Amino acid sequence: MMRKQRVLLIGSGGREHALAEAIARSETIIYSVMKSRNPGIARLSKEYLLGDETDPNYIAEWKLIKFRREPIDIAFIGPEAPLANGVSDKLEEMGIPVVGPSKKAAMIESSKEFMRDLMKKNHIEGYVEHFVFTDKRELEAFIEEYEKPFVVKPVGLTGGKGVKVMGEHFKTKEEGLEYAKEVIDKKIGGFDRVIIEEKMVGEEFTLQAFTDGYDIKPMPLVQDFKRAYEGDLGPNTGGMGSYSCENHLLPFISYHHYAKAVKILEDILAAMRREGIIYKGVIYGQFMHTADGPKVIEINCRFGDPEAINVLPILQTDILEIGWAIVEKKLSSLKIEFENTATVVKYVVPEGYGTNPLKGEEIKINEKEVAKANFLLMI
Ligand code: AMP
Ligand code: GLY
Repeated sequence: MMRKQRVLLIGSGGREHALAEAIARSETIIYSVMKSRNPGIARLSKEYLLGDETDPNYIAEWKLIKFRREPIDIAFIGPEAPLANGVSDKLEEMGIPVVGPSKKAAMIESSKEFMRDLMKKNHIEGYVEHFVFTDKRELEAFIEEYEKPFVVKPVGLTGGKGVKVMGEHFKTKEEGLEYAKEVIDKKIGGFDRVIIEEKMVGEEFTLQAFTDGYDIKPMPLVQDFKRAYEGDLGPNTGGMGSYSCENHLLPFISYHHYAKAVKILEDILAAMRREGIIYKGVIYGQFMHTADGPKVIEINCRFGDPEAINVLPILQTDILEIGWAIVEKKLSSLKIEFENTATVVKYVVPEGYGTNPLKGEEIKINEKEVAKANFLLMI
């Protein structure tokens, strides 16, 4: 009989807990690296390392990896920060195949400028007009003349908190300009550069897909809700909940528009190949469904959090089989199936979540009751 596969999992959020659950459904032994102890992942892991999950050298020094004590067969990386820092490259250097893009490929998320420039240069549908500035005088002159409502974005990663949208986070051009200058001055997102983008209006949706750099296998569409309070009237948060539908589309997305979004992701991967970058892992498109069809809001280099929690529990194909097909570039010959079931993710959050959350309180959950109600608990 074949031995169990040894899987390294990096990350410590609800998304990685959902990944751990999916990995644990196959014949595997899980070893994980977490920045803080996620009890759900810890329970599913044979061993875990607590520390900086974003530091390639720190991870490479873990005795288990360094001395090949129980050699890892394959690794899955959940969050963007380790990918943007080259954890994938480091593990591959050490002979561990990784389901997750290289540092260079992860630029599709870690540099919004790279993503927009790539779309523009390759005339990819769904491109949104963007302008990049480092010089504050040029920025000021541009905003003075710009007629359309706009969005101010740092170039790099900000943990989802750096983007400000006219009409939501600021009202006037002057307020937008002030924030754009602040992005340059304080190097928000890590660069003294800022992107000014045309504001898109519509419904947002998420399309995640597995890819080996050549073929893509889309997952069910998900809609994610980031605002607190009933009726989406509260502040933006890391997430409040999300849903997906039985037919894997969304009530406001026709098959035609879904196919357009898939084509956009395919075109992005092809454009990256032309730049010599073979992207592998999960690619995530955040789209705005506008009156002119789907427009790209952002591209991420990983599963969505919480969107992974919608799709992974209904994934019927073995995730290890998918992982191997990705690293061996054989995805085209694999049939990937999801149950035709609708899903809802609902966050249980502390008082003040999103702005000033209550901290340091113990959270008690009656797991037996949760299981009896046939809910899945992701931590
Ligand atoms: P991002 O970090 O790029 O996903 O941006 C965070 C949020 O800002 C998105 O989920 C959108 O709600 C909003 N946003 C970003 N770019 C635009 C845009 N061009 N037009 C309208 N809203 C946007
Ligand atoms: N759900 C938003 C994200 O994962 O970026």
